[in-house]
Amino acid sequence: MLAQRPPMGWNSWNVNLNSNDYPDFDQLTEDSVLAQGQAMVDSGMLAAGYEYLVLDDGFQNARRDHRGRLQGHARRFRSGIPALADQVHSLGLKFGIYSVPGSLTCAQQYNDYVADGLGSIDKETIDADAFAEWGVDYLKYDWCRAHLNDGILAVESFTKMSNALKASGRDIVFSISEYGLFKPHEWAPEITQLWRTTDDLFARWDSILRTIELQTDLHPFSKPGSWNDPDMLQIGNHGLTSSENRAHFFMWAILNAPLMAGTDLTRMSDEVRDLLIHPGVIEIDQDWGGSQGRRISNTESADIWAKPMSDGGEAAVLLNKSDSAVRFSLAPHFEAYSTAFDVFTGLALSPLDTIEVAPRDAVLIRFN
Ligand code: GAL
Repeated sequence: MLAQRPPMGWNSWNVNLNSNDYPDFDQLTEDSVLAQGQAMVDSGMLAAGYEYLVLDDGFQNARRDHRGRLQGHARRFRSGIPALADQVHSLGLKFGIYSVPGSLTCAQQYNDYVADGLGSIDKETIDADAFAEWGVDYLKYDWCRAHLNDGILAVESFTKMSNALKASGRDIVFSISEYGLFKPHEWAPEITQLWRTTDDLFARWDSILRTIELQTDLHPFSKPGSWNDPDMLQIGNHGLTSSENRAHFFMWAILNAPLMAGTDLTRMSDEVRDLLIHPGVIEIDQDWGGSQGRRISNTESADIWAKPMSDGGEAAVLLNKSDSAVRFSLAPHFEAYSTAFDVFTGLALSPLDTIEVAPRDAVLIRFN
């Protein structure tokens, strides 16, 4: 089964966004991408489970080649995408790429990326076959207003690419993104391994809280091989504090979310690296105890989210959304358990404790 556990990796998109969330495509080059791949290995991220290196929008040349195939940007990806895929594989990583079901990529739509004919509309088989031949392991397939630009239907066009990928003969994880517009949780589990549930996540606390809020009723729809995707990680990016990074990561873990790092791995701090590779947090994200996490308590300032673990215990996040400290009582929810510990610090707790959580922070706990 593809994506038996939530996929983990790195994606190029969030790395080159400026403070207005606008991308700088000049920074996206084959050398910069390979440097990220090398950093995935050297930092211990590959060993921790991050295996996909995904090239997002902006790698494309302005035109397809004479066979109608996508190609890398002539100046920035001079060796070509197949050669890049080989080099990524030789680092021990898997290689992912980006396309769209309509005619325009989002960079063309929103970021003045000048190109023509990049979309996979009516070219699903050409693209899927090329991806398979190049050794692509993961496709991010991004809607970008195709219903408005091209008058196409989401389920139909995502199914076309799903079928083309299956017919290509290579195992390619199919990750779709239509931002939750067409209730993807109702149909995407049949044709994809992961589907975005919301619009883009930005490196801002309000964006993180808004995205979390939109995950509240989605726990019944995910399972091994099909995952709700609340978007790529913003951990390490300018705009988030240490405690906000932590809360973001704990929440993605409790949701069994795909963990696609989106920061510059060649320049991340030790603190960010240690968070991204924290074995106790990753173990919770990757553990299927029968359901992704769901919210079990909610006020304007604080949430408790919990998920069953396969060892019969439970994991929970105490999330302080507010700007003042909040005191949580564990007993009403967890008194049936005999042991508890703080996953991040390793410190023993009691299921009867009350715990103070700092502003815009979270505590992740395992109960048994
Ligand atoms: C957005 C998508 C982002 C990124 C971008 C590329 O629609 O949500 O994750 O892929 O397009 O242009």
